[in-house]
Amino acid sequence: MARGDRVHRGYPHAIPHSNPSGTDGDIMDWFVMAFLKASLAWLALAVSLGVAMAVHPAWGVYYPAHVHMALLGFVTMMIYGVAYHVIPRFLGRSLHSRRLATWQWWASNGGLALMVAGFVMRPSGLALATPALAAGGALAACGAYAFVYNVWRTLAPGARGAAPARRPTLPMAAPPAPEAGPPDSAMIDHA
Ligand code: HEM
Ligand code: HEM
Repeated sequence: MARGDRVHRGYPHAIPHSNPSGTDGDIMDWFVMAFLKASLAWLALAVSLGVAMAVHPAWGVYYPAHVHMALLGFVTMMIYGVAYHVIPRFLGRSLHSRRLATWQWWASNGGLALMVAGFVMRPSGLALATPALAAGGALAACGAYAFVYNVWRTLAPGARGAAPARRPTLPMAAPPAPEAGPPDSAMIDHA
């Protein structure tokens, strides 16, 4: 298995002191990898619809789907994934809740998929369009609130694992090389 493929699938509550991310030596949490992959998939879908709209102007009616796949899909999912990876490492403490982050992945992506379905159905006047858009929007909003809460609690002073001893320290500067001075024997007090 390639190094970058190593993701964490468990949710231990005990955070090893030497590893503030709590990933037990794995490179990324499952939800971080999943957010990054989802972001890339949404980008591919967004630009495909963008090109389709450019080529076939009548499909311009689907632009809200394009906008949200690009901004809520690509941009926001990328930010969720990168933030969940780097913020605990910047702070040297564990994420407030990795279980909530996993649930958030499903809410954010399921919600956006429903929103896109609603935006695509709407121009045809399908009755399901508004319920899909409303449910998807509410789910995607819950995902965003979960992210806000999780990161806020991670940033808060007194957050789990926030003891100063767990803060990463910069490597100490190497001691200056000894200058050519008198031989050791010259330091001995012969008196
Ligand atoms: C190959 C890539 C892309 C193509 C061909 C494309 C194409 C289009 C087209 C044809 C429209 C409709 C313009 C109109 O009818 O007024 C549009 C709108 C839009 N696109 Fe893209 N797009 C691409 C990538 C992106 C990306 C990566 C983003 C954001 C990250 C983005 C954000 C938007 C937004 C926000 C609008 C709505 C603008 C408005 O409010 O009028 N697009 N795009
Ligand atoms: C839960 C999350 C969200 C929901 C439910 C939502 C819903 C909506 C809805 C219903 C519209 C009106 C579309 C129309 O009828 O034409 C809209 C427009 C828009 N949204 Fe969102 N949105 C969400 C998140 C976002 C985010 C995170 C961004 C950007 C980062 C964004 C960017 C936009 C833009 C640029 C438009 C205007 C498109 C245009 O008409 O030019 N939305 N959104």
